[in-house]
Amino acid sequence: MANILLTGGTGYIGAHTAVFLIESGHTPILLDNFCNSSPKVAQRIEQITGVLPKVIEMDVLDTTALTEVLKTEHIEAIIHFAALKAVGESVEKPLAYYQNNVTGTLSVLDAMQRAGVHHIVLSSSATVYGEKGVPPMREDAPLSATNPYGQTKVMMEQIIRDVAVAQKDLRYAMLRYFNPVGAHPSGLIGEHPRGIPNNLMPYIQQVAVGLRERLSVFGNDYPTADGTGERDYIHVMDLARGHVLAVARLLAGNDSFTVNLGTGQPVTVLQMIHAFEQASGQTIAHTIAPRRAGDVASVYADPNLAKQLLNFTTEYSVNDMCRDAWVWQSRNPNGYEDA
Ligand code: NAD
Ligand code: UFG
Repeated sequence: MANILLTGGTGYIGAHTAVFLIESGHTPILLDNFCNSSPKVAQRIEQITGVLPKVIEMDVLDTTALTEVLKTEHIEAIIHFAALKAVGESVEKPLAYYQNNVTGTLSVLDAMQRAGVHHIVLSSSATVYGEKGVPPMREDAPLSATNPYGQTKVMMEQIIRDVAVAQKDLRYAMLRYFNPVGAHPSGLIGEHPRGIPNNLMPYIQQVAVGLRERLSVFGNDYPTADGTGERDYIHVMDLARGHVLAVARLLAGNDSFTVNLGTGQPVTVLQMIHAFEQASGQTIAHTIAPRRAGDVASVYADPNLAKQLLNFTTEYSVNDMCRDAWVWQSRNPNGYEDA
């Protein structure tokens, strides 16, 4: 049982991972600057688990303060979630993205070396497979990026691999998430993006509660089952459980590894809309719009390596994803604002 630092720990995936870590007997410590989250999430985690996790307000760029935290909290592993993640914004503000995500990772690795922490799990993304990959995506595919956000993930991975060559005792797990959706089935924690959502599921959720009028379906002339784009949506509960398995594998003394976390099952935009309508009983008004720049027809995981290394397979269906997203959104239409 370990003390584990979650950078970006009050964010969407961090909060769900904290729940699983607590339920597995670990002690997660959530470090965040709250640029895209709320400290109120800690009370929600307590409501779910009975344990109030420690939250530290800090920027990962503050290497000195981070080093102190690693020492004083006796941290054995870091799960590095903290990053900016909006693709469109990264095109507008590349410096902010490189600074936060790439320099942030350098700072985390520097602090780990100073404090003698040897295990890191990185939030990577299917975005590192670029636009030329042919699904199902395998971990040994060449990496590339089509926007600054994706580029930061490619760079964060490369930096960690390089540092691990030099520091023989460093062990890493790169987790390449496909499309995380859904919420804790309690409806107590979930995702509430600031401003207009970029991603499909949060947009659908906001249409369902009346925060947005209608969804634009970006293209219906792709070579897919119904012409709309297909992705590999993974329930955040499955994703969070994957982190516990990954950190346990590292702490057990195994070698570094890189795995996809996805279901391996592609789902189209229209299939997702229909599943959400069924789960929520709401009608999702939508219109077919032109393709979104930079989008590809189809992205889904080859999930076999995660099965082999972590014995990880997903348990939640698309209907579960929609049901839990709806419970969260309908009970918290303004996210944690009203908590
Ligand atoms: P999120 O925005 O909810 O969580 C990220 C957290 O990091 C936020 O709480 C934010 O306040 C914090 N943060 C950002 N910069 C920081 C800094 N400099 N110092 C301290 N805290 C900082 O996003 P999420 O969906 O939970 O994503 C977590 C990680 O997973 C990110 O690295 C993201 O790139 C990656 N990822 C997410 C998705 C997705 O679709 N959600 C897909 C693939 C990969
Ligand atoms: N879509 C719509 N309308 C919307 C939003 C999305 O039709 O309003 C469509 C997209 O065209 C795509 C699908 O829904 O076909 C999924 O789009 P998302 O934006 O939800 O997800 P992406 O796969 O395009 O990208 C997301 C993140 C990336 C990350 C990638 C893989 O935004 O940062 O998942 O993890 F890299």
